[in-house]
Amino acid sequence: MNIKEVEFIASFANVGTCPVDGKPEFAFIGRSNVGKSSLINMLTNKKGIAKVSVTPGKTQLLNYFEINGLWYLVDLPGYGYARLSKEKKAGFGKMIKSYLTMRETLVVAFVLIDVRHELQKIDKEFLEWCGNSEVPFCLVFTKADKLGKNQVTANVAAIRKALLQSWNELPPHFITSSETKAGREEILEFIEKTIIDITHQNEHA
Ligand code: GTP
Ligand code: MG
Repeated sequence: MNIKEVEFIASFANVGTCPVDGKPEFAFIGRSNVGKSSLINMLTNKKGIAKVSVTPGKTQLLNYFEINGLWYLVDLPGYGYARLSKEKKAGFGKMIKSYLTMRETLVVAFVLIDVRHELQKIDKEFLEWCGNSEVPFCLVFTKADKLGKNQVTANVAAIRKALLQSWNELPPHFITSSETKAGREEILEFIEKTIIDITHQNEHA
């Protein structure tokens, strides 16, 4: 898919105030600092359209980016940032979870996982919550440029194996780097195909 137009729409504090135009949307979620905002910049080819920071907890609202006037990418706050106050952490958790369960136009949530580490408890629990809550998701492994190719393959296999202890099957996954743009075409192709599928479904509904 070609991205011709990217427009930052606005940031919203809760799902109740998000746009109501019915355009399909794809959200990016994962641990704080995993690379959600960087991935949105990489996918859109717009450095800095989503705010990136070395300090975790940068993204604090639901940030909407409209693509080609037709669909949205949504940059979500991260989970699991230990240094946030208890109240703020609980608030983010609530905002993310109500967004993911109540947002009718959400097509797929891309759950980002840092490929450098073994499966983290918080990611495992978050994915289980997605499963129990029937949130459709894909896995995106991030920061692949920080490891050698063989190590990336080994880590992806180890994380999938760990997840398969509690899952019968896993959704598609993508291996990405915001530095090298690895995975960009694959994710955009997946989004394009998914939008075509839901358009057909709606036509036949
Ligand atoms: P929060 O909004 O705080 O939850 O973080 P985030 O998940 O949006 O992460 P962000 O995109 O702000 O990136 C966090 C840090 O990781 C920044 O210093 C990025 O430059 C770095 N980073 C993100 N993606 C990559 C990547 O693919 N490769 C490398 N080498 N660094 C990355
Ligand atoms: Mg961010």
